[in-house]
This record gives sequence, structure tokens and C-alpha cells, in this order.
Amino acid sequence: VSFVLDKIGALVTLEGAVEKKGRFLKPQDLGIISEAALVIEGTGLKSKVAWVGQRTELPKKYSKLKKVSARGQMVLPGFVDSHTHLVFAGDRSHEFEMRLAGKSYLEIAQAGGGIINSVKATREMSEKDLFKLSSERVETFLKQGVTTLEIKTGYGLSFESEKKCLKVIDKLKRKTSATIRATFLAAHALPMEFKESGHKAYIQEVAHDWLPKLKNYIDFVDIFLDKGYFAKEDAAILFQAAQSLKIATRIHADELALTGGSETAVSFGSLSADHLLKIGEKEMDMLAKSEVTATLLPTTAFFLNEPYGPARGLLDRGARVALATDFNPGTSPTQDVSLVGSLAALQMKMSIEEILVALTLNGAYALGLQNQKGALLPGYDADFILIEAKSPARLFYEFGRNWFKPKVFCKGKFIA
Ligand code: NIG
Ligand code: FE
Repeated sequence: VSFVLDKIGALVTLEGAVEKKGRFLKPQDLGIISEAALVIEGTGLKSKVAWVGQRTELPKKYSKLKKVSARGQMVLPGFVDSHTHLVFAGDRSHEFEMRLAGKSYLEIAQAGGGIINSVKATREMSEKDLFKLSSERVETFLKQGVTTLEIKTGYGLSFESEKKCLKVIDKLKRKTSATIRATFLAAHALPMEFKESGHKAYIQEVAHDWLPKLKNYIDFVDIFLDKGYFAKEDAAILFQAAQSLKIATRIHADELALTGGSETAVSFGSLSADHLLKIGEKEMDMLAKSEVTATLLPTTAFFLNEPYGPARGLLDRGARVALATDFNPGTSPTQDVSLVGSLAALQMKMSIEEILVALTLNGAYALGLQNQKGALLPGYDADFILIEAKSPARLFYEFGRNWFKPKVFCKGKFIA
């Protein structure tokens, strides 16, 4: 059904941000139109923005369409969370207690906890139960206005369990209202079965056996390149295999230590380099000059009690910066998108326009969806939220309790 969303108090189009490809943003790049209307055409997955502008200038050809009143509310593009690990079972609150007692994340992992702990629980859970748990989490994101979502595997770490997680993600794509992309992160940690044979042998198997067999379920390939996990050489093997299958890459880079992740992302032309807590000046320059989207995950820094990612260093160099939740059981057990924005503002000195674009258009860039998602301009998908606010700042101002209950439109209907 085509209709006009009318009586919009303020419509955030992100027109300037689109023109500038998400870099060097200024307040006017939000492209806010006041007293606006939005024409939506097509149904279901094909519902697109056909026109935006001031309501008094609605073209004649749309004047007969049904009108839905926004009652003066603000309309913004739906959020894009470009980095989540939401398919996992179990909980790791015991490790939280160990950290409170003085143990570090790496120490806990090296003592057999960490990722491997979640792997055990995830392997044990049936595909059906894992789907149920995961779809509830997708709903939690949708209610906040996250209409596009990246989901990683990485808590299976055997061929069968990684396949199970990919099938869960595939079903989420078909059964939920969110637009979802699947990332294959078998290179998340060394599984217990490979303790003897080691990282290289595991990567060879993942790259040359699992990946080709599972490729139809996979949109992107990722690796945890970091101290205590995988090395640059492992990433090279995996990314070459991905490239030969024409699958785009992304990377967990320089989170725990500076270990060559950003460089690898640039040299392989990855879509994104994520985390970057320990990135150096040279690597920031490299990312800024490249098309790689630098993805910062402030709730992870918060939860690990580590210094926040260098947002200003990246932004002022002209890097394209996205923000995401990194929702996972070990380092960011939260789905609170608003908190991501609050921390970015207060701890990382990002401006409201930088934050809003980082959670929409630049998240879309990180998923290769920048021409469809993350802005409200003709031709873009009709994914949007309505909130009671005069300025987008309100989204990140009242922190810590998911206060905003937006109305959410995606895949052709109001879902919340
Ligand atoms: O993004 N860095 C790797 N993966 C997750 C943590 C995984 C875990 O501890 O379960 C992250 O921080
Ligand atoms: Fe992560």
C-alpha cells in the first residue's frame, strides 16, 4: 500500500550525510525538513521512499493517496546495528564476578572460560530453542527501532554447530521484520578440538572446507584478529578464501592489543574494521584514507573498563565511523542502542549528528547497504521510526532505560 506520512514535525533525511559519504559531518548534514511529508510506495520488502519534502509542496500525483498523520512527531531512519553476536546460549555472569574480583578478560579466557564457555552452552542447545531465544532478541532490537541488523556466528566453532547458528540466522531473516545479514565468525576462538593441532590447522579447515560448504548462508566473513586469538597470517588465509568466493570481509581489529587488524582490513578492502580500542595514529590515518568503515563499540569499552575507542582521532581525520552494540555475552551484554549513543556523546566526544549517522547511514555502509538503508530519501527502503522529540539529541539524553518507545515502520508495515 502506498501512503503519505503527513504532519511530520521534523523529518531527518540525512541528505548531507549521504552526499558526504558519512564523513566530516556538520549539523546541517542531518538534512532536517520541518512540517514535512513522506511518500511511501510499494509493499512488503519493496516498500520504498518515493518522495520527501515540505507538506505544502506535496506533488499533485500523490494528493489522492491515503494520508497517515504523524501528529507532529519526529521521523528518523531506522537504526542499523552493524555488529552483534546475538546467537548464543548460556550466561557469563560468573565471569563478571571473576572480573570484579580482579581477573582480566584474557586471564579468564586462558583459564578455559570466555568465548569457549558460551560455545559449550550454544552447542548443547537445539536449533529450535536457539531460534526462539534469538528471535526474542531481534524483537528487542526492533522495538528500539533497529530495523537492520548484522548477526555473527562464532559460538559454535564446529562445522555442525556453526551450520546450526547460520541456519538460525537464515530463519531470522525470513521470519522477523528486521533486515538481517549473516557473518561467519568461525575464527572467533580456537575450539577445544584443535588445541593440539593449533590455529593454523583450524583456519585451513575453516577457510577451505567449512566456508565453501556453508557459503550459501553467509553474507560476510569475520575474524577475531587479536592477542591470544588469531594472527595476521590466519586472517590472510581466511580472507583470500573469502575473496575467491566473492564474499566481503569485516574484522575484529585491535580490541585487546594492536595486532595488525586495521592494516589487514585496509589491505583486503574489508567493509569494516571493528573495536579499535588499541589502534595507533598510523592505523587511524590508513583507515581514514580508505573505504573501510571504522566501527566503534562503546558499550564494550564500558563493560571491559577500558579506555574508549579514539572517535575524535578517527572522525577528525575523515574516517567514516559507525557505532554498534557488539551485543554478546562476554564483553557487551546489552542491547541498548540508546546507551551506545549516550556513551559516544559523553565519553567519546561525538556530536549528535556524528552519532546519529554512525547508527544509521554509516552502519549501512559497514554492511554494503548504503544505497538502501540508513537515510530517508527517494529510492531508499522505507525503514523509519517516529518519536516524540524536537531534536534527535533526545534519543541519547535520557540514558540507561530504553526510554524511547518509537513507532517503527519496516518491510511495509508498522511493527511497533
Ligand atoms: O566482540 N572480540 C570478540 N568477540 C566478542 C567477545 C566474545 C565473548 O567474550 O564472548 C567481542 O568483544
Ligand atoms: Fe564483536
